[in-house]
Amino acid sequence: MPTLHLNGQPVAYTAEPDTPLLWLLRGELQLTGTKFGCGIAVCGACTVHLGGTPVRSCVTPVAAVGGQHVTTIEGLEGAEPRVAAAVRAAWIELDVVQCGYCQSGQIMSAAALLAHTRAPSDADIDAAMAGNLCRCGTYPRIRAAIHAAAARLAAA
Ligand code: FES
Ligand code: FES
Repeated sequence: MPTLHLNGQPVAYTAEPDTPLLWLLRGELQLTGTKFGCGIAVCGACTVHLGGTPVRSCVTPVAAVGGQHVTTIEGLEGAEPRVAAAVRAAWIELDVVQCGYCQSGQIMSAAALLAHTRAPSDADIDAAMAGNLCRCGTYPRIRAAIHAAAARLAAA
């Protein structure tokens, strides 16, 4: 049975190699924090980290994962504890969430940005978050929360 490095541990699965990673996560592995939005890589709801890089799991076949580490919203705290804590605190402080459906994808993209760019500019944020859509229009709060998370990381 093939295995996946998922959220810090090897996980066996039975899905076919061409199965989208999102289907494997939400279906067989019951990790439903990662959301299905469009299925065609245009909304960002399904964002996970592959080797620390945000990817759209709806268009990433399981076969493309190989030995790379997969991190979902459920495993973010284990993979990036300081960033995860700063993002969580900032999201609460700025009351970012409205309906919440897009937010795990937003947080995964924001966390990947902050893991590599500790003081992102507005332009950095816009570039990193451009692929994450929010039907509730929380974009200004997301941008403010990323700045707030960066400040928390700098102060820590
Ligand atoms: S569900 Fe993957 S980008 Fe929309
Ligand atoms: S908070 Fe509702 S879609 Fe983003």
